[in-house]
Amino acid sequence: MRAVVMEKFGAPSVLVPAELPVPEPGPGQVRVRVAAAGVNPIDARIRSGSMKHMFPTPLPAVLGMDIAGTVDALGSGVTDWSVGQEVLGWAEGGGYAEYALATAVVAKPGAFSWEQAAALPSVGETAQRALRVLAPEPGQTLLVHGASGAVGSLVVQLAKARGIRVIGTARAENHAYLTALGAEPVAYGEGLVDRVRELSPQGVDAVLDAAGAGVLPDSLRLCPAERVLTIADMTFAEHGVRFSRGGGTEEPDVAALGEAVHLVAAGELTVHVAGTYPLAEAATAHRDTENGHAPGKLILLP
Ligand SMILES: NC(=O)c1ccc[n+]([C@@H]2O[C@H](COP(=O)([O-])OP(=O)(O)OC[C@H]3O[C@@H](n4cnc5c(N)ncnc54)[C@H](OP(=O)(O)O)[C@@H]3O)[C@@H](O)[C@H]2O)c1
Repeated sequence: MRAVVMEKFGAPSVLVPAELPVPEPGPGQVRVRVAAAGVNPIDARIRSGSMKHMFPTPLPAVLGMDIAGTVDALGSGVTDWSVGQEVLGWAEGGGYAEYALATAVVAKPGAFSWEQAAALPSVGETAQRALRVLAPEPGQTLLVHGASGAVGSLVVQLAKARGIRVIGTARAENHAYLTALGAEPVAYGEGLVDRVRELSPQGVDAVLDAAGAGVLPDSLRLCPAERVLTIADMTFAEHGVRFSRGGGTEEPDVAALGEAVHLVAAGELTVHVAGTYPLAEAATAHRDTENGHAPGKLILLP
């Protein structure tokens, strides 16, 4: 099968197309013929080698967690799925390939495009988890750093649907996008605290950092530490705030993914696709994810 393989850590150019044997599903796994694979910022950090401590990655490796495709073979003990069913979920052993193995999958609604389906797993689960941990109440004000991002934009939509006021940070080009999602946009960078206080003089009730861009000190000037959550800043302990990790890497939350699918299918949640790439151009997708891109997910199409 065609796949994108990484034989060493480094720049995006370490991602190279290669031929690999089609993997055989183990007990409890399905094999998925991958129609679309999502690119996550964490993929680029694993590739660079900066996450070796958190995500030990034996080489050569195939990256990629989020996949959508058609079940093509069943491992022993699998009774919930049959060959030919369309699914989305988390790959085990790499999704940047024509075939991937998975245990944690849910059915893909027929109305979803492959791109939409592959965009959803990690960010759909993460957005719900972040809101569950922070638990802002209707009428309260939530500040979302990185509100135009793939996770942040889902958090904005979910929070607004629950009657929560959302102030979101983004670059100026993305402010109209945030307004359309229902958030009050502010620019990030120097002067952020004053800009937020212009909108909410008392500060905010909760903060989600979905940017990981050194925004925790400013957050603590607007909100008590126990109401600040980051999913992206590894200096969280120095600032006394909580960190939440998941996104398909530890005991994937299939129920949360199912709920995200339900919300998208019901038209209550929109996940944007910013760009698609042929599988062989995974390196270009990684450059784009690292250099900033239009709001939404980047998707590889095997
Ligand atoms: N812990 C977990 O379980 C988990 C799960 C999923 C993702 N994550 C992490 O969460 C982060 C966001 O993921 P994503 O998929 O949403 O990424 P993304 O789509 O690339 O979004 C990142 C966002 O950060 C914004 N940004 C850049 N610099 C900023 C700054 N100085 N201040 C505020 N915002 C800034 C960008 O906004 P503009 O484009 O408007 O500049 C962009 O929208 C990543 O670090 C990812 O690794 C963690």
